[in-house]
Order: sequence, then C-alpha cells, then structure tokens
Amino acid sequence: MAELFRTVEDARAFVRRERGQGKTLALVPTMGFLHEGHLSLMREGKKRADVCAATIFVNPTQFGPKEDLSRYPRDLEGDLKKCGQAGVDAVWAPEREQVYPPGYQTYVDVTELSKGLCGERRPGHFRGVATVVAKLFALFRPDVALFGEKDFQQLRVIQRLNDDLNLGVDVVGLPIIREPDGLAMSSRNSYLSAAERERSLSLQRGLKAAQALCARGTVNARDLVGAVRAELEAVEGVRTDYVELVDSETLAPVIRVADRPARLLVAAYVGATRLIDNLELREPSE
Ligand code: PAJ
Repeated sequence: MAELFRTVEDARAFVRRERGQGKTLALVPTMGFLHEGHLSLMREGKKRADVCAATIFVNPTQFGPKEDLSRYPRDLEGDLKKCGQAGVDAVWAPEREQVYPPGYQTYVDVTELSKGLCGERRPGHFRGVATVVAKLFALFRPDVALFGEKDFQQLRVIQRLNDDLNLGVDVVGLPIIREPDGLAMSSRNSYLSAAERERSLSLQRGLKAAQALCARGTVNARDLVGAVRAELEAVEGVRTDYVELVDSETLAPVIRVADRPARLLVAAYVGATRLIDNLELREPSE
C-alpha cells in the first residue's frame, strides 16, 4: 500500500526523509480516477528512480468556468489501491486549500506553446497546468517526472517550463495507452454512454486513416487533416473541435510531413464530452 499524504508539510517531510537516505525520486502528477495510462507512468517512474510518488489533485485553475471541475470523476480509495499495485511509494492527495491557500497569487505562463490547439479552445487551461506542475516540481524536487503523450501539448508546455525555470527535472513523455478497440484511455471516457463510446472510435479511425495515407506517400497537411475530419463528420453526434498537423517539437503548424517528426492532433466532442488524441507521423521512407 502506498503512503497517503494530505498536507504540504507531510509531502515536504516525505521528500526530506527519502532524500536524506540518498534516494532518487520519480513524480507522476495526476487528477485521479486512475487507468492503465496513469499506471504505465507510475511503473516507469518506479523503474527510473528509487522512490515513486504520485499526486492526485483535480486542479481547479486548469478548468474553465463552463468545464467539468465539479463533476470530474473521483475514486480516492480505488486510486490508492491501484497506486500500490503499480509500485508507488507515496500518494499526495491535497485539499484545494493546501495548493491554493487564501492570498494565493502566483501563476506560471508558458506564453507561446500555450497558444493554439487546446490552448486556444480552453483559455487559461495551460496556465493552470503550468502553475500546478511548477508547484509540484518545487515541492517534490523530483529527479524524473513522467507524463503521457496523450496530452501532447501539455507535455511540451511542461518540458518548456522545466527548461525555462531551470527546474532540472528529467521530464519524460510516454506513449498513449489505449483500450483494446483503440480508444485512448481517459478518465473522461467514464462520461460516455454506450452509444457515445461507439462514436468515440471515430477519432482513432481518423488518425489511422491519415497514418495509412501518409505511409502511402500523401504527406500534405490538407489531405491528412481532411482524412481525420471525414471520419469524424461521418458519425452523427461527433463534432470536430480541431484537427491539426504540427511540428512535434515546436507545435507550429506544418504544411506537410517532411524530415522532422510531425504530430497530427485531434479534439472532438462526442455528445457533451470533449476527447483528444494524437499520432506521430514521419516521412515515408521511400
Ligand atoms: P490526468 O488527465 O489525470 O493525466 C495524468 C497523466 O496521465 C498525464 O501526464 C496524462 O498525459 C497521462 N495520461 C492520461 N491518459 C493517458 C493515456 N491514455 N496514456 C498515457 N498517458 C496518459 O494531465 C493531467 O491529469 C493534469 O493536467 C496534470 C498534469 C496532473 C496537472 O493537473
């Protein structure tokens, strides 16, 4: 069973104790309602450091006023079990006041990478993410922190803030874990009705169609994006939010897949639930 901590003081004491014994520390920040995607990060964390800590905190500053903060799924008891099984040593699950006490007024803004894609549709979202992750890095001072490529823009924002603020954490991105039928795992999948769950496969179908096109030599963004949009538009009850081909490092839009890795990203509403997914595309070899 993983140790459970609730306060800043307890987290600090844990870090001091482990560091005092010369141990290296891995950190896996989450918002809970854990699935295999989260657990893959924890297992890897345990491999890369002596001690692995996970955090479970539904961070209010990254939710917009009309988003799902109050109904975001929670299951602390189940999460603690899963953390233990994944080899996590400690879980920090603070109350809101521990993270944002009265008088709180400091925010981290990764200006350029937070523009476009999800940043454009969710104003303030990445400011909230960057702020809470900077706070977690400051509190835990981990050697390594693990994040999923599922949230690709988030991963780049966090790598940037880590570099820009000289935090010195090894920020590792790990591949998307999927359900057997290809749907990217997400805590938000629990919102989907049976019919919506079926419709949600259109994201994966679209990305796969684009991947197949690219492998056969279609490298221009218009056709690749079009292939994804066509799959989404073919399904009733699915509404495209964005489909974009960007440079994997800078997230700047690209007009074709060339010698640098490109990333095809999609966001779509399935009913009221907003889902995201993405895929790396490389120039076909011949
Ligand atoms: P959350 O959505 O709980 O995700 C926690 C971590 O799990 C993130 O790094 C995310 O990319 C990763 N993850 C989610 N689904 C995944 C999947 N199917 N495969 C692989 N990794 C997956 O992302 C957040 O929380 C928050 O924004 C957070 C970083 C904790 C800041 O509040």
